[in-house]
Amino acid sequence: MYVVGGSSSNGIDKKISEKLGYPLANLEIKRFVDGEYYVRIMDDISNEDVVIVQTTYPDNNIIEMFLLQDAIAEAGAKSIYLVIPYYGYSRQDKKFEDGEPISARAMARHLSINADAVIVVDPHKEHILRFFDIPAFSCTAIPQIAKFLKGRNIDIVIAPDKGAKERARMASEYIKSDYDFLEKTRIDDRTIEIKTKRLAVTGKNIAIVDDIISTGGTMARAVEELRNQGARDVYVVCTHGLFVANAIEKLRKAGSKEIVSTDTILTNYSHISVAPAIADLIRDRIIG
Ligand code: R5P
Repeated sequence: MYVVGGSSSNGIDKKISEKLGYPLANLEIKRFVDGEYYVRIMDDISNEDVVIVQTTYPDNNIIEMFLLQDAIAEAGAKSIYLVIPYYGYSRQDKKFEDGEPISARAMARHLSINADAVIVVDPHKEHILRFFDIPAFSCTAIPQIAKFLKGRNIDIVIAPDKGAKERARMASEYIKSDYDFLEKTRIDDRTIEIKTKRLAVTGKNIAIVDDIISTGGTMARAVEELRNQGARDVYVVCTHGLFVANAIEKLRKAGSKEIVSTDTILTNYSHISVAPAIADLIRDRIIG
């Protein structure tokens, strides 16, 4: 078994290789002058099982993934397993308007070529796993997130919307706290509304847990709402921290005590690693 880490494997490849005791393959990855990618696997991986780790965001990393898959298939690998820490395009998981693509499905169909199974960390919605033509597994970062929160004296875990309620419930179960959720309506990709819902948060330490922070709009409104209702320290935690544009500034202005994400996308806020959970899943479900 070999582990192949693409340019957006964020060190998760190395951690998986160390935990499972499989070597990291040597690669050459570069760009031609015109910007196109060149990849080459430098080890003999014929008849080997190969795990590729690559976040498929932003777009250039998708191309690199396709090329790595093709190179590994060409080299005669026995099986190819994809580990996708952050699966881009997952939020367009259905047609919201006529004429739109189902982007999460389009990506899955292409990624299924030259692959035998796939692991996706905290997919935006579980049903997107069914878009792959190969066995697809979801790996949750919630136990790792909960471990982090244990040191923060959290009284209540809150989901910023109903869709994230299950994540908040799971996290609260690990840290033995209460949980609740806010009610959000998305107007467009930059505007959201959080309906006032009275929660018993006065004087309490809160962790708001979501899968993705993109523009920070959802979280910032949630933090504001909870602070207005008298919450003490409000921690903002997510699996996938995209933090686009001025997301961090918004979150700070809203009154967040701390902003934390995992390493599915690498930023200054990636204080939690999803590697141990992925390694366990590979051992138990893929090669076990
Ligand atoms: C939406 O359903 C997701 O779970 C996140 O709440 C959303 O993607 C966050 O986006 P933004 O940070 O732009 O509000």
